[in-house]
Amino acid sequence: MNNKLLVRLTKDSFVRNYSTHGYITNQLIKNDRIFNETGADFLSVLSRNPKTIKQLTEELLFIYEGVELAEIQEDFTVFIQDLEKEGFVLTGETPDELNKIEPSFTYKDIDVKTNKKYFSDDFESEGTSEYIYDNLINEHQLSSLTIELTKLCNERCVHCYLPNSQKQNGKTLSVSFVKRLIDEGVDMGLLSVSFTGGEPFLHKNIFEILEYAREKDLMISILSNLTLLKTEHIALLKKINISMIQVSLYSLDDATHDYITQLPGSFEKTMHSIKLLLENDIPVNISCPVMKHNYMHYKDVLRWAREHRISASTDLDLSAQTDFNEDNLQHGTTNEQSKELLQDMLKEDKTWQQVLLNEYAKGIETKADGNQPPCSVGNDSLFISAEGYAYPCPSWQSFKIADLNKSTLYDTWNNNEQTNHLRKIKRKDFPEHMNSEYREFTNVCMARNANNNKGEYMKMDRKSIEVAKMTKELVDDFVAKNN
Ligand SMILES: C[S@@+](CC[C@H](N)C(=O)[O-])C[C@H]1O[C@@H](n2cnc3c(N)ncnc32)[C@H](O)[C@@H]1O
Ligand code: SF4
Repeated sequence: MNNKLLVRLTKDSFVRNYSTHGYITNQLIKNDRIFNETGADFLSVLSRNPKTIKQLTEELLFIYEGVELAEIQEDFTVFIQDLEKEGFVLTGETPDELNKIEPSFTYKDIDVKTNKKYFSDDFESEGTSEYIYDNLINEHQLSSLTIELTKLCNERCVHCYLPNSQKQNGKTLSVSFVKRLIDEGVDMGLLSVSFTGGEPFLHKNIFEILEYAREKDLMISILSNLTLLKTEHIALLKKINISMIQVSLYSLDDATHDYITQLPGSFEKTMHSIKLLLENDIPVNISCPVMKHNYMHYKDVLRWAREHRISASTDLDLSAQTDFNEDNLQHGTTNEQSKELLQDMLKEDKTWQQVLLNEYAKGIETKADGNQPPCSVGNDSLFISAEGYAYPCPSWQSFKIADLNKSTLYDTWNNNEQTNHLRKIKRKDFPEHMNSEYREFTNVCMARNANNNKGEYMKMDRKSIEVAKMTKELVDDFVAKNN
């Protein structure tokens, strides 16, 4: 590698310099690396602007006063070669050459990275999400912010956790407020922002907001029902290099999908948009919560997604509404249906089978450490509602952390009793989960606990306990037969 060679980050790489380490992640290859000391310093000079190795090492000389240029150059070159091999940076003679070799997400690629698993709901099981869970959570580094742009929605899904009364004339965040949140988040080292609703495409200024998040170098994702996507949005999504759009698709049968959304014609619109995203190589992830109505259909959705190399996930656990109204729970699967579904998953999800035989069957547990937090809320993630209130997550809107109209994001994260309280909650504080023989299969979700128990988030939700018991029985049977 010669000194005049240009180096820059790929458009999908994001670098953050935290107090104790440097971090690089890539939304295309779904991989990341963490560096201490020298590596973190080396990382700090990289950007999307091409610079020669010579220029970059000269910048490093300011940090390493007294060290020989040649010595730094040698180490830095090795560092760059490694990052290039792994796909984080590009090197070349001219900026044009770098642009030509820049890889982009495409569904034509054999190894498309959005399609990791068939059944499981945690498709990003390696790389970024695992790193964040293991590292940033313990440091309380705010990494991910979810912003509910508006409570307005054009659908009225039968299972929705948002009360319908909040969707009519729904509250909407102003552009200046969202920009302020982004600015404050970026100052605090924020890595990613997710826009949700209601329906985020109903926000009149979505273009301006998304472009602003791009200017501020954030990884951007959107949760949408995709009924309102227009061709001009495609150009925008390309321009902002969106990390992922999550769309809810309940069935391949239009009547079933439309019954769930309560919006006639919604299936056709959503499907049309998914195909548009596919044609334009924009990464999409299908979410298919399973209910009584689509219980016979969810497999078709997963199969269709797999055929089109789209990642897809299912979820059995409905949460009651954020105002504790439980009417929507009547749409959840019965115990019999849940059991059949779990049997199906066990039969078809090869990755899960491997984990069970290689780990669970050998006594390796993932949830045995009672000192771990039950999830990321308050530890590395925060949610801001369309009213401007900070809550732990989108479906937990009965635990108000702060009013961002009156308080800063910094104070909400660093000097707030509610945030500190969340950080103290550990797995062991849920004895019904921790001391049970089915704990490996319980997913402690405080939002669901709260909504399903009139706000009592420390009381385990009954349905998830029942599903966990059922899962253990089926898994033990599977392991006994296959081990
Ligand atoms: C509230 S919506 C907001 C974004 C957008 N309107 C959409 O439908 O994708 C986000 C996701 O939450 C899911 N969801 C809604 N109500 C739910 C509930 N009670 N339990 C579990 N998931 C729910 C939806 O199916 C959707 O995938
Ligand atoms: S799930 Fe999404 S699309 Fe459906 S009503 Fe709720 S916010 Fe609207």
